Amino acid sequence: CGIVGYIGNGNTQEILLSGLKKLEYRGYDSAGIAVFTQQGLEVKKAKGRIANLEERLDGAPLQGNAGIGHTRWATHGKPSDVNSHPHTDNSHQFSVVHNGIIENYLDLKEELIAKGHVFVSETDTEVVSHLIADEYKGDIVEAVQRATKRMRGAYALGVLTSHEPNKLVAVRYASPLIIGVGEGENFIGSDIPAILEYTRNVYILDDGDMAVLTTDGVELFNLSGESISKNMVHIDWDLVTAEKAGFDHFMLKEIYEQPKAYRETMLGRIAEDGQSVNLSKEIEMSDDYVKSISKIHIVACGTAYHAGLVGKTVIESLARIPVETDVASEYRYRSPIITPDTLVIVVSQSGETADTLAAMREAQRNGARVLAVTNVVGSSVAREANDVLVTWAGPEIAVASTKAYSSQLIAFYLLGLHLARVRGTQTTEQMTEIIHALTALPEQVESILEQAAVLKQVAESMSHHQSLFFIGRGVDYAVAQEGSLKLKEISYIHSEAYAAGELKHGTLALIEDGIPVIALISQEDLYEKTLSNIKEVKARGAHVLAVTNQGFEAEVAKSVDEVFSIPKTLPVLTPALSVVPLQLISYYASLALGHDVDKPRNLAKSVTVE
Ligand code: G6P
Repeated sequence: CGIVGYIGNGNTQEILLSGLKKLEYRGYDSAGIAVFTQQGLEVKKAKGRIANLEERLDGAPLQGNAGIGHTRWATHGKPSDVNSHPHTDNSHQFSVVHNGIIENYLDLKEELIAKGHVFVSETDTEVVSHLIADEYKGDIVEAVQRATKRMRGAYALGVLTSHEPNKLVAVRYASPLIIGVGEGENFIGSDIPAILEYTRNVYILDDGDMAVLTTDGVELFNLSGESISKNMVHIDWDLVTAEKAGFDHFMLKEIYEQPKAYRETMLGRIAEDGQSVNLSKEIEMSDDYVKSISKIHIVACGTAYHAGLVGKTVIESLARIPVETDVASEYRYRSPIITPDTLVIVVSQSGETADTLAAMREAQRNGARVLAVTNVVGSSVAREANDVLVTWAGPEIAVASTKAYSSQLIAFYLLGLHLARVRGTQTTEQMTEIIHALTALPEQVESILEQAAVLKQVAESMSHHQSLFFIGRGVDYAVAQEGSLKLKEISYIHSEAYAAGELKHGTLALIEDGIPVIALISQEDLYEKTLSNIKEVKARGAHVLAVTNQGFEAEVAKSVDEVFSIPKTLPVLTPALSVVPLQLISYYASLALGHDVDKPRNLAKSVTVE
């Protein structure tokens, strides 16, 4: 989501709207603003793009000297007018915009309802506006501090109250927020582009920092109310760079957002003792139903299909349920055998892919229960599925999917653990071990990202080739397919992904001197066999880059030209790490060839035709 706030003598509405437009890449399913007008705090919001909000404001603009605005990427509650921000309390004296997730919102909501508060939306944010109103005893800063002490989760907040119309309060915990410092006007934004048009002087808030803005100044506090000082940062980025948070392309930014996407996708889904995963708060299928599932069909397109290939291994190995993974455009027409105890899992970043939707509807017509794994709350797939498991990767802008794919893997791990718990297919020790390794992944991805320079070199030397191969066994083969697709999508270099053991049955004929082969070799039980396949291509002159585990590194190095090691994790979790170097190789190859990385030719982010 994107937040913007303004206090000063400028045109508040215009400044808020222009800030929101710059933040649309952070979410765009609904938008709203609240402004102090002579009538008090007035709120206007609208589902859909910011243009819809503008239309609504056209006839009746909001005039005043302070306001907050929000562009939403739905988390709790579908995109709708009423679920859009800003949210207010019953007295309409407090207004809040929020980015993040309040984990304990249901408990707080219950408590506030008991005190007489009436809620109108399904969002976690509305709880914040009521909570602040409840805590207000004449000082908005203290009320916000008291409220934050009661909230668990992640939040960046902008708060206005008509009791103190000359103040705009901002607070940050685990969701980004910056303060823009102007002359006779000050700003808040969840990101620099929101305010760049008006000022280049910013404070970047850290977790637990709070700011009180007036027309003339900005005061900074910690959550205990003690005054703090911070260095002001001068931003010399242009707007385009700022939107990409300083990265050259959205794809690169999104690759680097993966640790965060992993953490957010896990947030609140793992039991506090770290021994189990329970998704029953989000998915409605009963334990009896879970026990009755006799087979699972995973259906998806493109990159999401590749996540489904890993999902098959994850579910089969953790929950011991037979799984078939199908390309959506094929699934529908192969008369799949669907019984009442067949669970169909559709995977779709956008939730709008026509092929996936059609396959899903067909499965439902045949009596299947459908669980959707999607990145877009309120998308068609999410609305029509019986259950939804959201990947919290945040909006993905680059056409080539990166963080959405890897967050889908995390969703499959969580789902696998949930099913395993209910069906009793893993012991508590086993689940604890997996969860421990799962929570280590974000940091491990960070350590891979630190080695991007090495992958850039690899990519540059590969980019001169006409064709290359990816090989692997087991989940390595699934990741190889995603690596190959990524490379094709954005570098236009022809590549093929092959099951390492299958190569000798035909494709080996294409291996000739100097041809690059990227070999994934991360699975202990398949290690020897994959190494033999590597030797087969080496013997035919291939130039081999092995992506392997720390541990196998030294041994593998003897048989290949280059090695890239990923940190040690459990075999089933390696895809969440090994895909990262492949994404970076594709990115740098595309860059070296001078292609439009974020918008590759012939492709669209969301394909709504069959
Ligand atoms: C399009 C995109 C792919 C994506 C596929 C499925 O073809 O170009 O990158 O993987 O659709 O998209 P979905 O939104 O359903 O995951």
